[in-house]
Amino acid sequence: MSGYWPRTPFEPCVIGGDRLIDLLNNDLSALSERTMATVNDRPIVITGAGGFIGGHLVEHFRRMGYRDIRAADIKPLDEWYQVHKDVKNYAGPLKGDCRDFKVCRTICKGAAEVYQLAADMGGMGFIENNKALCMLSVLTNTHMLLAAQEAGVARFFYASSACVYNAEKQKDPNITALKEADAYPALPEDGYGWEKLFSERMCRHFREDFGMKCRVARFHNVYGPNGTWEGGREKAPAAICRKVIAAVVSGKHEIEIWGDGTQTRSFMYIDDCVKGINLITHSDILEPINLGSSELVSINRLVDIAEEIAGVKLHRKYKLDAPRGVAGRNSDNTKIEAYLNWEPSTRLRDGMEKTYRWIEEEFTAKYDAETAHLSSISTFTHGARPIPGDGFNPESRFMDTWTQGIPAGYGKGAKTGSSAGGGKGKKAGGSGGARRSKAETSAGGRKTPGKKKVKAKAGAGKGRKPARARR
Ligand code: NAD
Ligand code: GDD
Repeated sequence: MSGYWPRTPFEPCVIGGDRLIDLLNNDLSALSERTMATVNDRPIVITGAGGFIGGHLVEHFRRMGYRDIRAADIKPLDEWYQVHKDVKNYAGPLKGDCRDFKVCRTICKGAAEVYQLAADMGGMGFIENNKALCMLSVLTNTHMLLAAQEAGVARFFYASSACVYNAEKQKDPNITALKEADAYPALPEDGYGWEKLFSERMCRHFREDFGMKCRVARFHNVYGPNGTWEGGREKAPAAICRKVIAAVVSGKHEIEIWGDGTQTRSFMYIDDCVKGINLITHSDILEPINLGSSELVSINRLVDIAEEIAGVKLHRKYKLDAPRGVAGRNSDNTKIEAYLNWEPSTRLRDGMEKTYRWIEEEFTAKYDAETAHLSSISTFTHGARPIPGDGFNPESRFMDTWTQGIPAGYGKGAKTGSSAGGGKGKKAGGSGGARRSKAETSAGGRKTPGKKKVKAKAGAGKGRKPARARR
């Protein structure tokens, strides 16, 4: 039994029937049996499957007994974090680029469910410096929606982000947790957040106008093994693990932290994320919903945890002009608890232990004491120029990522926003723009970071390739 259409994105929907009982009891086996009955003769599609969350989602459904899975990613197969031989893999720009409508049609044909996770994205270092690339994911989202609708899929899941939330609500490290309604009036993260918010609404209108069962989760910072830990796209948990490991391996006991370390976030462990995706997709929750941990920590505390795991204490250097994003962000889980009687609950300390150990293995397979410092080299570019350091663009201090491009007088947002370069921002923004103009006209290269051996020194990493999960 399904619910009724909400008239606004915030209006609660009704869930009921057997599904409600399954969900309230959190009875995954009953849920999975019935779900599988509807899909086991038709494939499910997971895009972005060569990436972090997509790779884990494929594994999650394999474990649940799904037999017909199509996994797609623009990256060549040898760069996927997890490769499953019993899955039909559509890899590389010809078979797996979901910006291409023909590819979307091929992978969606005859499918029962689509999980749309493909996106050109990363942590703050990437999204602040690659707004156009982030926005181009709109092609992927639009074409996947169209192809899924044409194929008549039963369910469509879209991975949105906490970056859709209004910046004004995230200016204090002691933030009040973000509830779903806080996305409007809209003042999301520039580039990446706007694209996510737009695509959320596309899902809503495909549901309302075409009757396609779209489900949308707003992920809050997800971490775990088999994800990006170097190259410039990595998020804080993986970056901090890598930096602590580099300090241990090199014997140089110091760490660089972006910002002053007081900024706060909540971090969701990957196992909670894939479980939540499954529950939300097969629920009758019609509006976008938070999928995140509510365990708020400062970045300084995150560093403490990594140090505890490593058994070291490092000298901290704070890079105040590095990309920082919002001052504070946490997930209000009232809705997800009410709907599913469940919320992500893995303790950060436990998830970080597993993440740290996996990155440690990858790191030591690739670097040694002499080459450890090379792990901070960024492999993505800003326009035609490589960005120095691990995703840090010195020009970004002139860019107010929140208010850029917002007309003066739009709410309070135009006057405030991130304080890094705040006052300077307006003045220097012009010159930053002028400096950027060359890069804007040249073709930007997209490189896939993280999985290529850094060629800095012969013998780096003793020739052993980082482990890649193959099943
Ligand atoms: P990821 O970068 O590890 O995976 C995304 C994958 O999409 C990559 O492997 C990439 O190659 C692929 N991709 C990019 N463009 C593509 C295209 N045109 N066609 C096919 N594949 C393409 O990122 P992730 O952490 O696994 O994120 C998955 C999804 O979750 C994304 O939509 C992301 O925006 C969203 N999300 C993630 C987080 C997080 O903290 N990890 C937070 C909020 C939202
Ligand atoms: N990436 C990174 N690397 N961040 C660092 C580092 C570092 O070495 N040191 C400190 N930080 C700080 C950042 O400055 C930021 O204030 C905070 O850690 C979190 O950074 P990220 O993990 O990169 O991103 P985020 O939490 O601001 O946003 C992420 O989560 C969103 C969902 O909640 C991004 O991954 C978004 O793409 C995602 O949608």
